[in-house]
Amino acid sequence: MYRSLVYPILSTLEPERAHGLALKSLRAAQATPGGLSILRCFAGPRDPRLEVRAFGMTFPNPLGAAAGLDKNADAAAALMALGFGCVEVGTVTPRPQPGNGKPRVWRLPEAAALINSLGFPSNGAAAVKKRLAGKRFNGILGVNLGKNKDTPAEKAPEDYAAVFDALKDEMRYAVVNVSSPNTPGLRSLQSRRALLDILAAVDEVNSKLAKPRPVLVKLSPDLDDAQLDEALAGALEGGASGLVISNTTLDRSLLKDQFPDRPGGLSGAPLRDKSLAMLRKVRGKVGKRLPLIGAGGIATAEDAIARMKAGASLVQLYTSFVYGGPGLPGQVVRGIDEFVKKEKLRSVEELIGADA
Ligand code: FNR
Repeated sequence: MYRSLVYPILSTLEPERAHGLALKSLRAAQATPGGLSILRCFAGPRDPRLEVRAFGMTFPNPLGAAAGLDKNADAAAALMALGFGCVEVGTVTPRPQPGNGKPRVWRLPEAAALINSLGFPSNGAAAVKKRLAGKRFNGILGVNLGKNKDTPAEKAPEDYAAVFDALKDEMRYAVVNVSSPNTPGLRSLQSRRALLDILAAVDEVNSKLAKPRPVLVKLSPDLDDAQLDEALAGALEGGASGLVISNTTLDRSLLKDQFPDRPGGLSGAPLRDKSLAMLRKVRGKVGKRLPLIGAGGIATAEDAIARMKAGASLVQLYTSFVYGGPGLPGQVVRGIDEFVKKEKLRSVEELIGADA
């Protein structure tokens, strides 16, 4: 119904407006008595065999909503009701900022892809905290940490620590985002030195907590081998709890001449093989020392299973949700559940690294 009825209407709207409208509907649903129960009709099964233990906590299933989908924590409860076991809100910046000029999101429906140059529009950490304060979720809530555009690189650690500090009570885990292509200089923070400084600043706050939060690092699929080794050294030496592989790509060779002039990060189907290859490479380099979250072009249960077999403990998606609609997370989780049953696995965790 979404594909034949709702998407055709939403697709006539400017992409960011359509996304805003979708989030507003989810927000209204979660604020309405019984609204979450209705959304739960879309979700896949809840089954202990689908649970994944990672970073010292139990995820109800391996599928998460990737960062950017719910930047300001408007609809996390609704997204979990639709079947996501985990929602990574953000990127959240310390102070509110508008992001880049519009238009800044483009649909590429023939490629099942998006290009965005949003540049971290964010309500800021204080507003997001207010929205999340005291809420309990039926899933795992993570926060993706960013820096303000006008914060110079040498002050970046303070920004990441400030967002972490503001939201430490609301989050179950944090992700240091140093890989979005739309904030000038951000991706240079993937160097060993920069990552060590950022992780140390976050750890200064984190180590004082009774229960420190796992802190992950999200990487770009555009790193060359030397840059990847640097980033992995920074993450390992800095005590990161895991990695998210990957953010969007600037690589336009993945597209067939569509929108070559659109600036920003490419996501969705064209990114799938590149992200999968990077995940495989990272797993080969770090083994089981750093649990991995796979993201990039995941649209089906088969995609999710392939990513887990390559070494991902968990997976996330964004772009396929835009094209697939509210039934998509449930469809993916249902497909994983069927596979687990068909293969007679005791747990979906048996998939992790099965092909690595
Ligand atoms: C993103 N992504 C993203 N990532 C991040 O760390 N912080 C962010 O704020 C955003 N914002 C964002 C906006 C839009 C419109 C898109 C499409 C993507 C990247 C996202 O989390 C994910 O890593 C990639 O999109 C790859 O996954 P998909 O979209 O191919 O499933």
